[in-house]
Amino acid sequence: MDYGIKTGEAGKTKTTCLMVGIFSDGKLSHSAKELDKLSKGNLSGQIKAYSFSGEIGQSQLLLEQPGIIAKQILLLGCGNEEKLNAEKFKKIYALAAATLKKHAIVDSASTLIELSVNGTSEQTKLCLATQAQEATLYAFDQFKEKPKKKKAEPKKHFYLTPNNKAAQKGLEQGKAIAGGICLAKDLGNLPGNICNPTYLANEARKLSRQFKSVSTQVLSDAELKKQGLNSLLAVSQGSDQPAKLIIMQYNGGKKGDKPEVLVGKGVTFDSGGISLKPGAGMDEMKYDMCGAASVFGTMQALAELGLAINVVGIVPAVENMPSGGACRPGDIVKTMSGKTVEILNTDAEGRLILCDALTYAAKYNPAHVIDIATLTGACVIALGAHASAVYSNDEDLTGAIIDAGKDISDRGWPMPMWDEYQDQIKSPFADIANIGGRPAGSITAACFLSRFTKDYSWAHLDIAGTAWVSGGEKKGGTGRPVAMLTQYLINAAAN
Ligand code: BES
Ligand code: MN
Ligand code: ZN
Repeated sequence: MDYGIKTGEAGKTKTTCLMVGIFSDGKLSHSAKELDKLSKGNLSGQIKAYSFSGEIGQSQLLLEQPGIIAKQILLLGCGNEEKLNAEKFKKIYALAAATLKKHAIVDSASTLIELSVNGTSEQTKLCLATQAQEATLYAFDQFKEKPKKKKAEPKKHFYLTPNNKAAQKGLEQGKAIAGGICLAKDLGNLPGNICNPTYLANEARKLSRQFKSVSTQVLSDAELKKQGLNSLLAVSQGSDQPAKLIIMQYNGGKKGDKPEVLVGKGVTFDSGGISLKPGAGMDEMKYDMCGAASVFGTMQALAELGLAINVVGIVPAVENMPSGGACRPGDIVKTMSGKTVEILNTDAEGRLILCDALTYAAKYNPAHVIDIATLTGACVIALGAHASAVYSNDEDLTGAIIDAGKDISDRGWPMPMWDEYQDQIKSPFADIANIGGRPAGSITAACFLSRFTKDYSWAHLDIAGTAWVSGGEKKGGTGRPVAMLTQYLINAAAN
């Protein structure tokens, strides 16, 4: 959908559908009061007639009201006025967009930017509203037969709000982040037979064609071998698909400015390798490149915004398959760092490709390095779907990441990485083992990565629980944590 800002009175707004907020117990928002006056009490009469209580999740479409130009009015429940927060605000706008879609309403306007949302600026409100609507209108239907008769689709939405710099910035950021989320969802949803390492490499090349500010470099097997990324290659060696190390450089800052480096796990399918996963739900391991997808989405968003910052996106891309050539439990590999790893479980492959990519990242003399990975099932158990786990060797960086996520309603939560956990990944034969047993599985995976990130400020996001919705009808990529990462970079560019 296209978005714009309109000023002026709600009652005089020319639109098919005008959205207004109603709080709990039918309490009218500012604009609802205005419309009620213009309609000589008709609006509040309808609210009573429909027993519209104003809870979040409630909506009611009304036909023409006397004294109001808009052809329809959409009442949206906003819950308790004092308790409205960013999460709820997004829910309200998601329902708004779902209603537009359901009723094939092409053009619409909303008055809800006027609501006060706890801890949220004018700018962020527009950003959140746009993200929420786009997320709802998203569809992944490229592999389905096209319907013969297509329903009309929502095309244009105006926010009724003073047209100032903050509003425009919020809208611009909302559109860019929503676009990045859409790209990340698409890449995640694509099946493993299409979205393989080579596909991801081409996707990076596409970004650099789209944006002059982005340049792409792709390292293939021979070059990776030459540079000693043996741990990454060990994961890839059981697959017929060649591995790629994809590097995207965005230059928006000054020449000498140290870059922010994002490293995204790009396992385009994770069968587990010789430590084969059970069959049920294995299809979802096509999502094991969602860390990479979030790097692509964030690169696109920041290039679109033209942020004044240097950013490097690194994606180690491999497929983890079992074959006669696959690596086996017990194999010992020498990582790019020189440290050796005993591969006790070939299904703990994410850390094996990340450790080399993280060593490679040091070449860029980074300000910070953030890796993003669907790393452990244990993280899903720990935090579920509501927060990405944040590990770091730098408290300031943890704070910056978590604050950014809080602002944009894409949460992270700090996790411990105490030295005592490091004992779990000792190996009798090599410098490190690639698994640390069942207790604290997400933490020991982070501990493994920490061995390769001593030379710079680093954070690791375990997004196994947040990157996609599992099973059922709603199965699909979420595009997380594109919003968190983009907000982090927006903040970093401003400092
Ligand atoms: N990609 C998986 C992690 C995963 C599992 C993400 C389920 C989302 C849902 C990762 O490569 C993996 O297999 N991890 C193992 C590690 C174990 C062998 C130490 C896991 O979590 O079971
Ligand atoms: Mn695995
Ligand atoms: Zn994996």
